[in-house]
Amino acid sequence: MNINENYQNLEESYLFSTVAKKVNEFIQKNPEKKVIRLGIGDVTRPLCKAVIEALHKAVDEMGVQATFRGYGPEQGYDFLREAVRGYYAKRNVQLELDEIFISDGAKSDLGNILDIFSKDNTVLVPDPVYPVYVDTNIMAGRKVIFADANGENAFLPLPDEKTKADIIYICSPNNPTGAAYNKEQLKKWVDYALSNKAVILFDAAYECFVSDEELPKSIYEIEGAKECAIEFCSLSKTAGFTGTRCGYTIVPKTLGKLNKFWLRRQTTKFNGVPYIIQRAAEAVFSENGQAEIKENINYYKENAKVISDTLDKCNIWHVGGKHSPYIWLKCPNNMTSWEFFDYLLEKIQVVGTPGSGFGKNGEGYFRLTSFGSKENTLEAMQRFEKLFR
Ligand code: MLT
Repeated sequence: MNINENYQNLEESYLFSTVAKKVNEFIQKNPEKKVIRLGIGDVTRPLCKAVIEALHKAVDEMGVQATFRGYGPEQGYDFLREAVRGYYAKRNVQLELDEIFISDGAKSDLGNILDIFSKDNTVLVPDPVYPVYVDTNIMAGRKVIFADANGENAFLPLPDEKTKADIIYICSPNNPTGAAYNKEQLKKWVDYALSNKAVILFDAAYECFVSDEELPKSIYEIEGAKECAIEFCSLSKTAGFTGTRCGYTIVPKTLGKLNKFWLRRQTTKFNGVPYIIQRAAEAVFSENGQAEIKENINYYKENAKVISDTLDKCNIWHVGGKHSPYIWLKCPNNMTSWEFFDYLLEKIQVVGTPGSGFGKNGEGYFRLTSFGSKENTLEAMQRFEKLFR
């Protein structure tokens, strides 16, 4: 047998696993110190009431002969797909039910979608960005090129006609920088994709953090996007489903064979999200669910403000936090990202994510998440202020 040697081209371990390993080693050596984790974007607020009620009800149904469910449709139950369709309709995006595919989250689908694309495609990925886009393409042996995101373009690179790409990743609001494209900017990407016969893989995982009505939450708010874009979204950040697992992917039928091939891929390799979880996800889109998740999102936004205000006081350059749970800052004193990571862990036991883990342009930057508890965020920022003011 021959193994997939492309794996040799990956970093030794996934970014967040490396961070977790370093933190665990520190805790083992310093068990008396309280470490505050503002690294991985994992939520801390409990699931909202509407979701918990739906879960309990669905669990009870599974224990009764008449309402018990076995295998469900691989692409998701209609009740949840209808709820997703209704969510999009509120933003004037009309979807057909068979364009919506329920999954266990955006990360899985962002990797799995590559099954339906040829290995010969050139992939364009912004740098810095969520490492999954690059890693999954390296695993498949695809050529990856980068669109530089930096201070000069406010971390929002635009297409360059000289660059030829077949698959383009866009994450807006962006992980890690928190930058969000406006409609005009996204339209440039849509036009580029249409004229180059490319496909955009649009990661909308942070759409619920967009607070400016003028900013697009979905790429389908842009004319022409249904002819060139697949959208991925997840309830992880929206409704605290990081451990519950549910997301959705939109593959418009106007993309031709891609819709059919994705269905074929999913029916072959995936058995669907558990019924119980899909009922919980349905509840997120209910009136009560929407109001309750908004409270949690606002809670995280307040944390983001605490972080941002503290960085202002410390004169540390930063962006993000407004339309995103991430604050992207410049490491003080010209430290590299990992030097700053070690420095914070050592001095004040605050964990963040080194910017260089998101790409070469992330070197010298650092990401903090607002997904911690209010108490921990306040404490972490007090420690920050003491160290840097
Ligand atoms: C992050 O911290 O970037 C995210 O939590 C990773 C993810 O969503 O998989």
